[in-house]
Amino acid sequence: MTPKQKIIIDCDPGIDDSLALIYAIKHPKLQVVAITVTAGNSPVELGVKNTFTVLELLNRLDIPVYQGASHPLSREFVSAQDTHGMDGLGENNFQLKSDYAVQEISAQQFLANYFEKKRQTSIIALGPLTNIAQALDLNPSLGKNCYRFISMGGSYKSHGNCSPVAEYNYWCDPHAAQLVFDKLGKKVEMVGLDVTRSIVLKPNHLEYMRRIDEEMTDFIRKITRFYFDFHWKYEHIIGCVINDPLAVAYFVDSSICTGFDSYTDVVTQGIAMGQTVVDHYDFYNKKANSHILTQVETNLFWIDFLTVILNAQKSLISDDLNFLKLG
Ligand code: BDR
Ligand code: CA
Repeated sequence: MTPKQKIIIDCDPGIDDSLALIYAIKHPKLQVVAITVTAGNSPVELGVKNTFTVLELLNRLDIPVYQGASHPLSREFVSAQDTHGMDGLGENNFQLKSDYAVQEISAQQFLANYFEKKRQTSIIALGPLTNIAQALDLNPSLGKNCYRFISMGGSYKSHGNCSPVAEYNYWCDPHAAQLVFDKLGKKVEMVGLDVTRSIVLKPNHLEYMRRIDEEMTDFIRKITRFYFDFHWKYEHIIGCVINDPLAVAYFVDSSICTGFDSYTDVVTQGIAMGQTVVDHYDFYNKKANSHILTQVETNLFWIDFLTVILNAQKSLISDDLNFLKLG
């Protein structure tokens, strides 16, 4: 059997972050070494609480949780509680069974220490890149010593979701994103809106999922209700875009997406703040620091995602999705 791939998830749960956590933790090909939390969708303390809510649900409180940045590097903190609910999990106000403690050192210090030496461990970043930027400042070898670095954020040709040109994670902390693209020393594999916008969880998915795993679907239905309403109000779609799980799916099987290598910079101020400037045509003549995704095979995403989160058989899910046209 091939050994599990080790990952650290840096996140801001967050509805779609929570789905990504469930997916990654349950994935038979992955070992989640640690979870680091940053301010983003919700204030960092709430993000930590939501992480514990997911770990409790999965009975995986053995995974260490580290609390990180409470605000971006330079600009004021703007959460996405309008999208994810005041509690960050769709206004369910879940109560934890116990007071769980975060690890003693900060997320930034943990990341800096962990990558003091070369590791076969990758980072999947699902929120603003503040923790990563600060860890990189503490340990400039972090990029060199981690195996792969995946970031959900940015966009190439797709419009933004915070401004006409900016995606939330990079818009929230553009200085951190800019620093990571500039200083990581390894290609940022950018899972941006060009691909994540195609991953829309619809009522029919939930209806189908309920038939396979009622308990898991009940939780997912609860947390996505608010997200559905937000998407109807602002994008006029019935369903919700679940960005973050695609970063996990792409990490596990990169053949589900296609893209290209490019030099990318991030705008840190002004009207285009947070925009990723992707130099596809090599105007700047600079070494590629990113891999930009442009296409995704959505059916392959859904097959793996549902198989894992519902503990189902791949062939069953695959046949059903095909028959129900849910891919
Ligand atoms: C990203 O921003 C957050 O709202 C989501 O969790 C996702 O990481 C999408 O722009
Ligand atoms: Ca996120």
